Amino acid sequence: MENKIKEALNEARQLLAGAKTSQQLEELRVRFLGRKGILTGFFKELGKIEKEKRPVIGKLLNETKATLEKELESALREIKKAESRREKLDVTLPGRKPFVGTLHPITKISREICAIFQRLGFDIVEGPEVELDYYNFEALNIPKEHPARDMQDTFYISDNVVLRTHTSPIQVRVMEKRKPPLRIIAPGKTYRRDSDLTHTPMFHQVEGLMVGENVSFGDLKGILTVFVHQMFGEDIGLRFRPSFFPFTEPSAEVDIQCVICKGSGCRVCSHTGWLEILGSGMVDPEVFKMVGYDPDEVTGFAFGMGIERIAMLKLGINDLRLFFDNDLRFLQQF
Ligand code: PHE
Repeated sequence: MENKIKEALNEARQLLAGAKTSQQLEELRVRFLGRKGILTGFFKELGKIEKEKRPVIGKLLNETKATLEKELESALREIKKAESRREKLDVTLPGRKPFVGTLHPITKISREICAIFQRLGFDIVEGPEVELDYYNFEALNIPKEHPARDMQDTFYISDNVVLRTHTSPIQVRVMEKRKPPLRIIAPGKTYRRDSDLTHTPMFHQVEGLMVGENVSFGDLKGILTVFVHQMFGEDIGLRFRPSFFPFTEPSAEVDIQCVICKGSGCRVCSHTGWLEILGSGMVDPEVFKMVGYDPDEVTGFAFGMGIERIAMLKLGINDLRLFFDNDLRFLQQF
């Protein structure tokens, strides 16, 4: 009996070593440990054995059963692991695409605007977003208590420090540092205390400035016409409408023909056929004096436009808030 038990264990171990699937292991378990299994059969025969030998054989049987159960269990664990690895690794599946970031539409349009002016000889410059009152207002011919300050709900940091309300202070900073002739284009963030469907407290502008000996209003019209045609297409007309800014004289706002209806009138252009896109004008002599330029020797023009506005028209976006929600489903389209 003892030998039979040992032989059975050996046989079981040999089969175990050759087993490759959980199915084979289960068959093995049934064969040795099942209700009609070999070891189970030995247990049934215990009664027939001489009384003295019974405890020894019984113990051996119990131990053998426990050993086999343990070995079966660990073999099953190994096979399960291998099987699940095999299931997970489907080499025919297409690879996972790595997530590639995209430029924000505002960044793209800003770069596009700047690139057009760069081709016309303008240098890109930047200035601080936290700005001195002097550069944001004073040097642009907007003294304290000037009514024009009300137009630009300003974030004040202290009496003399503001978040810039436009990119025009960059004009002053550049003219203080450089001698004419100069041509610069300056993109950046701007801030106003304004928040509704069509205004956000932070938005973007691009400032342009050209100063030289005989820079004329004709140059302003020519350069901005080239810009509009390159940005929106040769078929888009534009018009210069008289306006007022404290730092330009004369001043003009530029309208382009509605890019949606091409001028025939629709909701986007409030049925006028025209869309305002920027403010501009000839640099006011007072501004030249502040930076130490002689207004009798140089003239210049400046313009400033809102990038969100240009981006909405160019990309056909009707809700300003989309730019600031950071919804990847929106942003990934660009
Ligand atoms: N800074 C003006 C604004 O924010 C725009 C402008 C720039 C007008 C330069 C004239 C010249 O509305």
